[in-house]
Amino acid sequence: MTSAQVAQAQKIAPVVCVQNQYNLVQRGDDALVDELAEQGIAFVPFFPLGGFTPIQSAGLSKVAEGIGATAMQVALAWLLHRAPNVLLIPGTSSVGHLRENLKAGRLC
Ligand SMILES: NC(=O)c1ccc[n+]([C@@H]2O[C@H](COP(=O)([O-])OP(=O)(O)OC[C@H]3O[C@@H](n4cnc5c(N)ncnc54)[C@H](OP(=O)(O)O)[C@@H]3O)[C@@H](O)[C@H]2O)c1
Repeated sequence: MTSAQVAQAQKIAPVVCVQNQYNLVQRGDDALVDELAEQGIAFVPFFPLGGFTPIQSAGLSKVAEGIGATAMQVALAWLLHRAPNVLLIPGTSSVGHLRENLKAGRLC
C-alpha cells in the first residue's frame, strides 16, 4: 500500500494498520513507516526476516556476534526499534526459532 492509497482509503474509512514488505535490507517504505507513525497507524512488515530467503548479511552477523545474539534476533530487534508503530509477526515452523525470535524483544 502506498501513501496515496492510504490517503484514498482514509476518505472511505479509518485506516488502523498497513501491511507491506519491509525489513532491514528492504527499506523502500522508510518514509511511509514514519508517516504512519505520525498518524498513529500500525505498520506490520511482512517478510520481516526476508520471507522465503531469510536475510543474509556479513555486517548483520558481525553485529549479532558482538552482542551474543543471532542475526535473526538483531534483524527483529532493529524493526522493533525502527518506530513505535511497528508490530511484528515473524513466521517460523520451528519451536527453536520461535523461542529465539521471542528473545529479540529483550535486545531492545
Ligand atoms: N500481506 C502480505 O501480502 C503478506 C505476504 C507474506 C507474508 N505475510 C505475513 O508476514 C508474516 C511473516 O511472513 P513469513 O513467515 O513469510 O516471512 P519471514 O517471517 O520474513 O521469514 C520466515 C522465514 O524465516 C525463517 N526463520 C524464522 N525465524 C528464524 C530464525 N530464528 N533463524 C533462522 N531462520 C528463521 C523461517 O524458517 P523456519 O520455518 O525454519 O524457522 C522462514 O523460512 C506472516 O504473518 C505472514 O502471514 C503477509
